[in-house]
Amino acid sequence: MSGANMPLLSVEDLHISLTTDAGRFPAVDGVSFTIARGETVGLVGESGCGKSITALSIMGLLRDPLGLAGGKIKLSGQEIQNLPASQLRALRGKRIAMIFQEPMTALNPLKAVGTQIAEMFVLHQGASWREAESKAVDALTQVKVPAPAQRAKDFPHQLSGGMRQRVMIAIALACEPDLLIADEPTTALDVTVQSEIVDLMKELCAARGTAILMISHDLGLVTDTCKRVCVMYAGRIVEQQDSERIFNSPQHPYTQGLVASLPRLGMRARHGRRRLTEIAGVVPGITAYPVGCRFHPRCTRRTEICETVVPELTALAEGSLVRCHHHG
Ligand SMILES: Nc1ncnc2c1ncn2[C@@H]1O[C@H](COP(=O)(O)OP(=O)(O)O)[C@@H](O)[C@H]1O
Ligand SMILES: [Mg+2]
Repeated sequence: MSGANMPLLSVEDLHISLTTDAGRFPAVDGVSFTIARGETVGLVGESGCGKSITALSIMGLLRDPLGLAGGKIKLSGQEIQNLPASQLRALRGKRIAMIFQEPMTALNPLKAVGTQIAEMFVLHQGASWREAESKAVDALTQVKVPAPAQRAKDFPHQLSGGMRQRVMIAIALACEPDLLIADEPTTALDVTVQSEIVDLMKELCAARGTAILMISHDLGLVTDTCKRVCVMYAGRIVEQQDSERIFNSPQHPYTQGLVASLPRLGMRARHGRRRLTEIAGVVPGITAYPVGCRFHPRCTRRTEICETVVPELTALAEGSLVRCHHHG
């Protein structure tokens, strides 16, 4: 692939295994997707589908009992899945940054937030402490924290959830990474604060040309944020297509179920009133993945073939990918 159209991130046939006393189980099974420079891509699926462990594998943060069992992760064409820990640490923060659902667990409770932002500049850019502290206040200004010089001296517990997530965004974007991975960044926040945080992320990343991998169980959130969406179910990608098209013509019964269960808000409002319908049943655990199509026990369209044969991820005419024997 030539340099010009080489993806920023390329996840190729990713396999993650879970090792238990009962054996080794495929937790993530052949996941592939790419993100171009500056592109926004969503990863959506109910809780337990494997979104977070996919993100952790990109960051090189998988730990026992989970492990990389196959596939490649390339950043600007360079394979990073086997990099030594020291090189991975350098990559994290500097080229790929991640924010999580609960900023309280990622922030150090014993350090002022300004110090924690400043550390990024010292660590990754070799800035002096004096320089770094003033850059930290600038960073808080950019994430629209009021009275940033004062707030820099606050400890995490003194800030609201929304303010803490702004601090996390400031830390994540401090070194102008190429890719921001946001894993359920607003799930723990009040609804009114959620959209402020998402808008802030979008605005700052767009201005910097930072690509976003937005991970959420909320299809509305990812389609509002991202150009393109990967739908994940039980460790596999079942559908991939443009956000707009997900609403107009979801192809996989699982995606159709997610669309049908959306409340009428934002982008969704354009598509008229819908009856809220939950998808019956639950996501199976890794050790109990069904044979054939993993969605078949919950699928209203299943036939015999679904219970035995794994459907291939198939490219459709309009550019979407779908993994279903009876798509459409
Ligand atoms: N450390 C772990 N040990 C065992 N199972 C795990 C661990 N982390 C995640 N899992 C399992 O892996 C599956 C995918 O988890 P996760 O990636 O967190 O899902 P999601 O982010 O989509 O909600 C789930 O079944 C979860 O229970
Ligand atoms: Mg998760």
